[in-house]
Parts: sequence; C-alpha cells; structure tokens
Amino acid sequence: MDAAAAAQPNIALIKYWGKRDDALNLPAAGSLSITLDALHTRTAVRFDAALADDDVVLNGKRDPEQTRRIGAFLDLFRARAGVTTRAHVETANDFPTGAGLASSASGFAALAVAADGALGLGLTARELSRLARRGSGSAARSIFGGYVEMAAGTRADGTDAFASPLLDAAEWPLGVVIAITMRGTKAISSRAGMRASQLTSRYYREWIASVPNDLVTARAAIAARDFQQLADVSEANCLAMHAMMLAARPALIYWNGATLDCIQRIRALQADGIEVFFTIDAGPQVKAVCLPGATATVAGALRAIGGVQDVLISGLGGGARLVERRG
Ligand code: PMV
Repeated sequence: MDAAAAAQPNIALIKYWGKRDDALNLPAAGSLSITLDALHTRTAVRFDAALADDDVVLNGKRDPEQTRRIGAFLDLFRARAGVTTRAHVETANDFPTGAGLASSASGFAALAVAADGALGLGLTARELSRLARRGSGSAARSIFGGYVEMAAGTRADGTDAFASPLLDAAEWPLGVVIAITMRGTKAISSRAGMRASQLTSRYYREWIASVPNDLVTARAAIAARDFQQLADVSEANCLAMHAMMLAARPALIYWNGATLDCIQRIRALQADGIEVFFTIDAGPQVKAVCLPGATATVAGALRAIGGVQDVLISGLGGGARLVERRG
C-alpha cells in the first residue's frame, strides 16, 4: 500500500487550450508535446486505514485546496480498487511550482503512477493517461516520454481522450532552454483562462478549428526530423493561441516585457542561422527549443536579457515511472 513515482513536465508544441467537457476534463482539440528530462516531480503515496482524511504535503507544506484537489483525484483510483482508505501523499518538485513550468503535468502523472502502484491496480499506460487527464489535461501527456500526442476524442465518456507516444526522446534529441521572466505563481489558472477564452474570445472557434491541421504538420515534421517545419508550426500555433487569448474580454495577457524581449532575441538568433524556436504557455516564461548543439548559445543569449531572472536547461526525457513499491 506504499509506492513512489517520478515524472517530468512536458512542453506543448501544439497547445491544448479549451475543453469540450469540464467535469471529465475533456479537451476540445488534440495537442502535441515534448517531455523534459531535467525537471522532476517525485511523489510517494501510502494508503493507511488509520487515517481519517487524506494528508497531502506539497513541497513540505499542507494546503487545503491542494489536499481537496488531490483527494478528489485519488477518489478515482479508490473507486477502481473498491476501497475508501485515505492516503498520505508526499510530493515535491525540484523546480518552481505553479509558475508556468507545467508542474501540474508532472504532478498528476507521478500521482497517477504512485496511486496505481500503491493500490496494486496494474493499470496500462493508456488507462493511466486517461486518469491523469482528470487531474490536469496536460498530465495525460507526461505519462509518456519523448514526443507525445494527446487525442481530443469524440466520446462523451472520455474513453478515447488519452495520450500516445509518437517518438522516443533518443530518436530525435532536442534541447529546451527555459527563460524564467517572473517568479511566483501565475495570475489566472488554465481552467479559468480556458473558460474565459471559450466564453468571450471572438477567435476561440477559429483557434479550435485550426489545431487539427497544426497537428498534421507537426506529426509530419517529427516523423521527418524536420526542425524548420516543427519550428514554423510550433511558433504559429503558440502565437495563434495567444492572439485568441488577447481577444478575450477582459484580455488574457500572459506575457511581460521580458517575454517579448526573449521572442525578439530568438528571432535574431534564427536570422543568424541558429536552429531554435520559441513557445510560451499560460504564463510569461519562454521555452526555447533548439538542436542540442545550440543549447549553450541560446542559454547565453537569453540569460543576457534584462528581466530574465534564471535560465533552466533540459533535454528530452522519459515518461512517468514507479521508483519504489512496498506492501
Ligand atoms: O493541463 P493544464 O490545465 O495545466 O493546461 C495546459 C495549458 C497549456 O500549458 C497552455 C498548453 C498545454 O497544452 O500544455
């Protein structure tokens, strides 16, 4: 009844922004991501009949809202196992939490694998991906490593909304340089931002309708290891998402000045022939994806920008996995 798991965040190149069902957390369109190797969440779960309530420690602290969210997620696993036993959960990230670095993706992926291990359910990776989705849409992708595609699915029960691996990290290694332009947690959660976009942005429908084509292009670029094609479609998809967000009322402006400075610097590097592109999620941090040989140059260029507070460097890594099991 005791297991620990580890998982890494992923960065979407074709973004997930919009739900077709809130309760089951079903995406309105598919998405495509790369799983990182340098940032980790480690989560231990112990089911204990002596506990009256779930007890959740996140980065050394107890928080009622996190405990409620994680408890509701564990209920999905308890229901499958036919138990009501409460759990002690200890989870920690070795990178900033809630700062637009996809800690919810690695968090719920690690929690799904640890809960499955602790209850001895023996779920398949696909089932774990479906369940991880219930915690956070992007977590469905962190079950797998390398290049991963999330299917939107069409079924109302969500059984066809899960992620699948496209290509192992080792088959096309890329570097990812993350420029931290703001510390602290993001202003508007992805759940609230998606809802506001759907209800108020005049471009929301066009955005959702444009994603399938971007997925086709990105999939082909990955199959052909065509960096330029992946760069073009990823930047266009990211900018289209932010354009749609800007058209929400009130506008969702996730960037700060340094975010734009990073974009301009990356464009200058591209003009110098460096193979790099940018992508930005629901926050001001900039993720620069490049060929491994360009990582040091890109990191140096972004570090030199005023307003960039820190730079993290990563490669691509594997999926969520069990690291310990007892009982
Ligand atoms: O899974 P969530 O609810 O954290 O939403 C993720 C939203 C983006 O990071 C902006 C895009 C994505 O596909 O990861």
